[in-house]
Amino acid sequence: MSDKPQDAGPPVQLWTRDGFQGALSVVTRPTYAPDYLSVQGPHAPRRAVLQRLTPDDQDDAEALPTTVATSRQGVKLHVSGRRKPMPYVVRNVEADEIHFIQSGTVRFETDVGCLTAGEGDFVCIPRAVAYRYAPIGDAMRSVIVESPSALKLSPPMPSGMLNVARDVKYAEVDPGMAAGGPTKLVLKTFDAENTVFTMPHDPLALGMRLSESVPVWKLNLASIQVHAYLPEGGPPSSFLSSGTGDILMFNLSARPGGRPPVHINADFDELICYVRGPGVWGGVSEPGTLTCVPKGVIHHGPSEDVPEGYQAWLLETRATMRWTPKALAVSELMETGQYGPHPSVGK
Ligand SMILES: [Fe+2]
Repeated sequence: MSDKPQDAGPPVQLWTRDGFQGALSVVTRPTYAPDYLSVQGPHAPRRAVLQRLTPDDQDDAEALPTTVATSRQGVKLHVSGRRKPMPYVVRNVEADEIHFIQSGTVRFETDVGCLTAGEGDFVCIPRAVAYRYAPIGDAMRSVIVESPSALKLSPPMPSGMLNVARDVKYAEVDPGMAAGGPTKLVLKTFDAENTVFTMPHDPLALGMRLSESVPVWKLNLASIQVHAYLPEGGPPSSFLSSGTGDILMFNLSARPGGRPPVHINADFDELICYVRGPGVWGGVSEPGTLTCVPKGVIHHGPSEDVPEGYQAWLLETRATMRWTPKALAVSELMETGQYGPHPSVGK
């Protein structure tokens, strides 16, 4: 099962704080550190092909997206697979939301305007902005990240990684939206039970926009430039972060440079969504595969230098994430060399 490079010297291993930005220790070992024989307990590396999960909202239009991971700090991940429009409006009063469109085309109507998102788009809906969405066509899939701390675009430099003027698209007022009739408004809170207002009209109907800034935007993964220190590669740089620095998001698509070192990320869980090929990323080839290496678990990771190209994004979170039973049911233990199923799977 060893994934030790054949032509290298003794394997180097890093321990890093603050996601490669803080304290660092480098040692060599005579062994390939990511190898493990078995593991018991919740803090284990896992992978899941999200297409194997049927979200609650796929067949029940009234349902909310299905939660796949949670944390004590309120950072959450959900999956949505609507075939029909949301018959209600949601306002998340605890967290900002990033909706990543894995497949399909989705129209969002929000408190501040409308936008249509396609495959590969991140859509940002900050805390307390009400919204609903609907597939254009008969299906969609999205992965939703909830962050209690406010999220903002935070590339390393004002230009270079992002072309904000060209690629960030903001919600726009649709003057054709009717005032509508009685509408359910669901306030999402930390409670097990949501709070539901019944409004006399559609709360998303708008007149005109008077402010300059628009808090709801979209940005496509493919328009975020990747960052590498050639020839070695080096750590990626985040394009989005929370105000408290407890969430970082990265474009982890194919890029030139060397393979990551064997390392321990002391402060962040690493969740990677492999979006699509054509290239295969190590042991990951199925679109919509979610991998998770919890903080403090030693890992290597596949080479990102894949000439055929692939698309992926990385969520780093200081919150320790736990898969929900529904996600566990479609997940499997993962080896942390190439991120394939662990050799013990299926035995
Ligand atoms: Fe890592």
